[in-house]
Amino acid sequence: MKILVLGNKGQLGTDLMEVLGSAHAVQGVDIDDFDITSFSDCRETVAEFSPDAVVNAAAYTNVDGCETERDLCFAVNAEGVRNIARICSDREIKLVHFSTDYVFDGTKRKPYVEEDLCNPINVYGQSKLQSEIYLKEYARDFLLIRTAWLYGRTGKNFVKTILDKARHEKKLRIVNDQIGSPTYSVDLALAVRLLLEGNHAGVFNVTNRGRCSWYEFAVRIVQYAQIPEVEIEAISSGMLQRQALRPAYSVLSCRKFIQETKKTTRYWQVALKDFVMKTWGKKNLPKPEDA
Ligand SMILES: NC(=O)c1ccc[n+]([C@@H]2O[C@H](COP(=O)([O-])OP(=O)(O)OC[C@H]3O[C@@H](n4cnc5c(N)ncnc54)[C@H](OP(=O)(O)O)[C@@H]3O)[C@@H](O)[C@H]2O)c1
Repeated sequence: MKILVLGNKGQLGTDLMEVLGSAHAVQGVDIDDFDITSFSDCRETVAEFSPDAVVNAAAYTNVDGCETERDLCFAVNAEGVRNIARICSDREIKLVHFSTDYVFDGTKRKPYVEEDLCNPINVYGQSKLQSEIYLKEYARDFLLIRTAWLYGRTGKNFVKTILDKARHEKKLRIVNDQIGSPTYSVDLALAVRLLLEGNHAGVFNVTNRGRCSWYEFAVRIVQYAQIPEVEIEAISSGMLQRQALRPAYSVLSCRKFIQETKKTTRYWQVALKDFVMKTWGKKNLPKPEDA
């Protein structure tokens, strides 16, 4: 397959390039090459490569930043997707797009399935829901993959932030009242490859297996990086003054993915340990500028 990855320098984009690139002809572009908010940029980028599939990992992902930069957030996350969906539809190209657990309000206490009602409680979630609406309206052949709590080698993420803080601070305070599923970007990229190669279409939830709070996530990060001297205190979300609200519970059911592909993802602890040991083994903890 000829695959064009949008946002190839981002967290997921970097791993998509590697995982998809090991079996397919892959080209990547990012904000230095094109602006997803410009229809003509999108049209020229897609025309230049003429791919069989476009995988859109470009997004505005600063959840708190979206609260103050609403217009930019909607331009990139929603209007950008409309641009790409229209172009892919005209050229009969499959479009793979990513959405988030933050399209849900978190009031459910069982894993969210693909058909559950969306009701985002922050601007980021609203913009991603709008991207889903545009995708369904404009794209003819699409894969919409909802994922959550993503981390990987590239970019800013919770794992790197915790490892960096653990180097400098004796005590960390982490919220214990938000439950979700951490997802390693390599595992997600492998799932994308599986879905693409199997010619699947429609909406899929894909995360690592299992669930935890951010507090439990942080405890494991520090444990796998073997930093015993740091103390982690569990706090409630109300004790943090963050701009965006987060859902209290946003576990995604991956049953459909498992049923259709006959494969499953790894437990989050296994994937996390692999990531921490391989990428940030104790002697190689991230320098502050990497985190
Ligand atoms: N991160 C998570 O926890 C999470 C959770 C659920 C779902 N997702 C979804 O998963 C996907 C991948 O997320 P990620 O964490 O890999 O994102 P990321 O690391 O922020 O990467 C996004 C890439 O898109 C680029 N970009 C931003 N504005 C653009 C524009 N106008 N035109 C072209 N490119 C632009 C970014 O460039 P700059 O860095 O220069 O802005 C960056 O390279 C997104 O759809 C995201 O919404 C992420």
